[in-house]
Amino acid sequence: MIYVDKLLKETDYLKQLQQLEQLERDRQFCRHGLSHLLDTARLIWIRCLEGRRTMDKEMVYLAALLHDLGRIDQYEAGTPHEEAGARRAEGLLSAIGYPTERREKVTEAILGHRGSKSAAETIELSALLCWADARSRMCFACDAREECNWREDQKNETITD
Ligand SMILES: [Fe+2]
Ligand SMILES: [Fe+2]
Repeated sequence: MIYVDKLLKETDYLKQLQQLEQLERDRQFCRHGLSHLLDTARLIWIRCLEGRRTMDKEMVYLAALLHDLGRIDQYEAGTPHEEAGARRAEGLLSAIGYPTERREKVTEAILGHRGSKSAAETIELSALLCWADARSRMCFACDAREECNWREDQKNETITD
């Protein structure tokens, strides 16, 4: 996964992760750092393996590793993070030389990762990203679950499906 390796060494990516970590320093709810991003990637990939789905592993990892950087803009300016995240992903994927046609698929998946009605809604990667994003959270062991705005039926009570 050469582009994943490139991304993980890309100074601007690391800077944005740091910036997000700083902004979420005092956040009592789920954060959006590298652990969450990697959990999301791995959950998608496990699901692909279990379902014998053919997906581009590198694309899965890139989409997951980039999907929440737009949180920076959401905290700072109120911009929906899937929109800002798609823009940030575009810039970073371009910086690491990821091919244009594959870049568009990643940014579309990020744009649709909150299940909003977009062109990406029908894209499999987008749906998997949306699913894994939510399933990566350990609500059953969370100290902030009473204050969390997720509906009770959205909260993960177990690590199984
Ligand atoms: Fe998100
Ligand atoms: Fe997320």
